[in-house]
Amino acid sequence: MRIDVISLFPEFVDQCAGFGVVGRARERGLLSLHGWNPRDHAEGNYRRVDDRPFGGGPGMVMMIEPLRAAIRAAQAAGHVDDRPPARVVYMSPQGRPLDQAKVRELAALDRLVLLCGRYEGVDERLIRAEVDEEISIGDYVLSGGELAAAVVVDAVARLQDGALNDAESAIQDSFEADGLLDCPHYTRPVEHELGTVPAVLMSGNHAEIARWRRMQALGRTWARRPDLLDEAALSPADRRLLDE
Ligand code: ADE
Repeated sequence: MRIDVISLFPEFVDQCAGFGVVGRARERGLLSLHGWNPRDHAEGNYRRVDDRPFGGGPGMVMMIEPLRAAIRAAQAAGHVDDRPPARVVYMSPQGRPLDQAKVRELAALDRLVLLCGRYEGVDERLIRAEVDEEISIGDYVLSGGELAAAVVVDAVARLQDGALNDAESAIQDSFEADGLLDCPHYTRPVEHELGTVPAVLMSGNHAEIARWRRMQALGRTWARRPDLLDEAALSPADRRLLDE
């Protein structure tokens, strides 16, 4: 998969995506990341990318032309014969909240262009003309879209075929399959001043361990994120446990 990031700080996303699973996915050639700075496409001595908002008010607005030229350069660089242009996603607190279903959808694309705003935002005409979709990573305002883009890159990279090793994929699959929060995890030592590992995990009884993990996952989801239970894939046995 190829991801192009349009940003005044393209190195930021590049650096964020240099470690762990994402760094490995890039080394393995499963993901390529390309940064495009609208300033390189701006005109004049000052290479201006922003201007005051019409109608007054604080802050600056990113101008149409440098962004449009950067998007076009990214589209041209990633163009493959007969393939449609990449989907253009604008990272914005006004977008649709990101969830794992959206991550899966994006991860299945060949190409993606992520547009990061700074200042008060981006000229609305550019969004209407060039952007396919707006995505938010949560109900809070960041100083720019770069962190949000890095979140998308990370979540999408780890879903590329071959990015995760077998153990990591198994964990991913179990989380994805049922839509519940994860159960708690423990490792050595068994006894510690902070507490003892639950005995069932050392019992060697795989059925009991699986049952305990399922109960923990259900209980946590019920306590912390009851909204997820509406969409979760629950068996009749799960429902009985929740009713208790
Ligand atoms: N840009 C600024 N805040 C954002 C958010 N919450 N999500 C995505 N992009 C953003």
